[in-house]
Amino acid sequence: MINEQIKAMLEERDMIASLANISALLYDQYDRLNWAGFYFVRGNELVLGPFQGKVACMHIPFDKGVCGLTYRTKASQVIHDVHEIEDHIACDSASRSELCVPVIVNDTCIMEIDIDSPFVGRFDETFEQEMLQAAKDIASAYLQHHWSL
Ligand code: SME
Repeated sequence: MINEQIKAMLEERDMIASLANISALLYDQYDRLNWAGFYFVRGNELVLGPFQGKVACMHIPFDKGVCGLTYRTKASQVIHDVHEIEDHIACDSASRSELCVPVIVNDTCIMEIDIDSPFVGRFDETFEQEMLQAAKDIASAYLQHHWSL
């Protein structure tokens, strides 16, 4: 259901308009979240993209945080309890679990979907699968609309 709504929003040709609405959709449709949005790979760092939630870190180096780990591994990261992760960057001290999914184009991570929850263990297999599908659809839209970062 959510993936169909995301696909519909990816028909929009302006990247910021599309991703801004997708961040609002995620934040609105899933319960128990305190942040949902995007980080773009720009040069040698991750830069804050459209999001919903509190003010967040604007620049994240590739060697820092859960977002940096997602970039390096090109694999989604499901963090059951962020307090158990030494390298977690706390943008909001209320965050207790996190899901970060890479968007891969031509074998390169070009952006990430990052979602935080104030509850430990918020992100299950279903949630992760839905965001992996969203990441694939965003990658297709990126190519189809000739988006660039
Ligand atoms: N927690 C992330 C930083 C981004 S905020 O959660 C929005 C990290 O550890 O990389």
